[in-house]
Amino acid sequence: MNKIMKACDFIIFGTKGDLAKRKLLPSLYYLEKFKYIHKDTRIIGVGRANWKNEEYINLVKKSLINFLNEKIDKKIWIKFSSRLKFCNLDIYHINNFLNLKNILNKKNNILINYFAMPSNTFVDICKGLKKIKINNKLSRIVLEKPLGNNLKTYNQINNKILKYFNESQIYRIDHYLGKETILNLLILRFANNLFFSNWDNNIIDSVQITISEEVGIEGRFEYFDKVGQMRDMVQNHLLQILLLITMSIPLNLNSKSIKNEKIKILRSLRCIDYNNVEKKTVIGQYTSGIINNKTVSSYLEEIGLNKKSNTETFVSIRVDIDNFKWSGVPFYLRTGKRLNKKLSEIVIYYKKLPINLFNDNIKELPQNKLIIRLQPNEGIEIHILNKILNLKNKYNLQLNKLNLNFYKKNDKNHKPDAYERLILEIMKGIKTLFISHEEIEESWKWVDSIINGWKEKKMTPILYKSGSWGPEESNNLLKNDKRYWN
Ligand code: BG6
Repeated sequence: MNKIMKACDFIIFGTKGDLAKRKLLPSLYYLEKFKYIHKDTRIIGVGRANWKNEEYINLVKKSLINFLNEKIDKKIWIKFSSRLKFCNLDIYHINNFLNLKNILNKKNNILINYFAMPSNTFVDICKGLKKIKINNKLSRIVLEKPLGNNLKTYNQINNKILKYFNESQIYRIDHYLGKETILNLLILRFANNLFFSNWDNNIIDSVQITISEEVGIEGRFEYFDKVGQMRDMVQNHLLQILLLITMSIPLNLNSKSIKNEKIKILRSLRCIDYNNVEKKTVIGQYTSGIINNKTVSSYLEEIGLNKKSNTETFVSIRVDIDNFKWSGVPFYLRTGKRLNKKLSEIVIYYKKLPINLFNDNIKELPQNKLIIRLQPNEGIEIHILNKILNLKNKYNLQLNKLNLNFYKKNDKNHKPDAYERLILEIMKGIKTLFISHEEIEESWKWVDSIINGWKEKKMTPILYKSGSWGPEESNNLLKNDKRYWN
């Protein structure tokens, strides 16, 4: 077992919810499998149900059957299930927290309180934890995104939480930061001089960041319809990727040093508001269509036939960064539900050479491209021009791909999920992969201004067919700049 791992009580608020079942419990199982969990660690599921422990253990088993990439191993399960405890607790009844107190280990276990619930419940949970005096220095709290619905509500929640826990105890999650390929971005940029020295507006023409999903809202309409794609994906995942692509090299890999560099970028983002929101952003909502040969319903049908909604399920934005390094380089962000395929990628386009020496052979030199595939088929591709090796023509050029594949078909090795990495970091008490208060503040400021712009301009989502790449207007966003989505 990993020596720095300490025993903890891992308390999951919202243990019956989607996140716990899909991600947290399977990740904990894998950490067990790979022996990252201390022998005295316990997992305590908190929820509203008059359940015996066995009923909780059944729920966990079902979740593992549904969401592990493999069959449950008997030996691991015996060990894992012996750690599970259930606590019946309604967070709005403060005395219920005494049930939790009774379960907690009297030993000096670290207390990890994972709030896998909407952020408007966080303050009540903190109050309850204070009541049973487990907001002490052994306690950590883990907050899921989106935190608040805008800057104002975020600050209200955050200020109240700070009455019970101090900043060093708070872990704000953006699960993208735990993905292997996202961590690799730092290595690609800061461990390779080839890229380190060729990473600014002298050489880069434009950047595209796409996170597209095939899934719709999958029964999460209560949550999603109030939030929309901008708050669900852009305010956190897409902005974080943008920051990792554009921040300057940090002094070291400490959370503070990384945060300092990210904040500089957030403060250099050019404001988008009612003056330019129509030119710089496109929003859409999916109608029915076909994905993987199956007919899928429209967003409105999913949320309930008689409902109307102006919630966006697609966003694309042109972002400009007003600093020396990035001035003049447009960053195009795009994300949507029910799109053509599940894909997350970053595409870096290099500037064209000023003169084409091979004019007789090729009319226009295509741009070099660096494609960083985050998921699926994780890898890195570089598009470069080469000679076709033959006698016929001295300078016949062709575009080739240098393809570094991290993903191997039939590879039996386990690929860690982002949540495994993040839970491990929380258990170790290392905060580098979590988001600071300042980052969230700055990102809300930028996002609020766009959302307010949409309201002021009465912009409503443009309908797009499920299975497409979003509204045609999203293509025009680039066409107007004489560019195209990759
Ligand atoms: C979550 C969003 O944060 O990220 C979901 O709330 C989205 O709406 C999910 O589907 C996508 O994550 P991943 O890891 O599947 O790309």
